[in-house]
Amino acid sequence: MSWGVISEMGPVAIRTSDFAQSVQDAQQILGLRETHRDGGVSYLAAADVHHELSYIESDIDGVESLGLIAGNGDALKEIRKRVEHEGFRIVSEKPARDGVEDGFTFVGPEGFAFEISIGLGREKAPAKGFGPQRYGHFNFHPQDHHGMVDFLQRVLDFRVSDVIGTGGSAGYFLRCNTEHHGIAVLKGRGTLHHHAWQVQDVTDLTKIGDRMHALGRELLWGPVRHGAGNNIACYYLEHSGNVVELYADMEQIYNDDREPVVWEDGEVWWNQWNSYVPDGFRSHGLAPTDLARR
Ligand SMILES: [Fe+2]
Repeated sequence: MSWGVISEMGPVAIRTSDFAQSVQDAQQILGLRETHRDGGVSYLAAADVHHELSYIESDIDGVESLGLIAGNGDALKEIRKRVEHEGFRIVSEKPARDGVEDGFTFVGPEGFAFEISIGLGREKAPAKGFGPQRYGHFNFHPQDHHGMVDFLQRVLDFRVSDVIGTGGSAGYFLRCNTEHHGIAVLKGRGTLHHHAWQVQDVTDLTKIGDRMHALGRELLWGPVRHGAGNNIACYYLEHSGNVVELYADMEQIYNDDREPVVWEDGEVWWNQWNSYVPDGFRSHGLAPTDLARR
């Protein structure tokens, strides 16, 4: 169920200066499977699809593109029209990577590239041990977070689920379907903070902690139960500098006209159980890479 041109979240593409380690983390910690390898691109997925994440071997670390799936071919054309009308730069008139039927990529506000696609290929996942069920959302920190939210609503039909801080002073959580948020926008320094993966049950979150411990590493934060979204989540830092979230129990919104929940300044929206946040948690993240320089 969705009301607008975007029906679901699409694959995230990240450039990494430690390709082998990033791919290994995605497989051994997060529990994704590598569906395809094409030269310096690793395609990874949890759900029964061609890919939900790709790592691109590079000399830099950065977010290459943020994927969104259009509802159908007409929706794809409508977005293409809006993007042209808004004057955003198109960097690819075709899908930038394998596994989708059609699509294009443009550079949105603050240099973040958005890859809009349709027809993400289906691929049956073999039975596996622990791994998430699917990719769920990304959380980024634009410098002009109000401007980014305007763009996401105006061009891509996202709706605001929660407002963070009085008048949105700290950010917004937005949805394109029933899931409480597909995109979280928090005021920051112009970086992607994390991509997030849904697990079946909160007990799966403990396995991430055990896996990190076995590797001599630590979780960044959690498990916590967020206020905005009500999800229980934990986080770890991936080698590219990107944060990865696993979560369960996210609020689902079946009323398309639900009024946004407003968290006034000073209200603890990030955790229902206590107000603790580790020092430096929000300072991690990846700046966008410029697709045009390839
Ligand atoms: Fe998140």
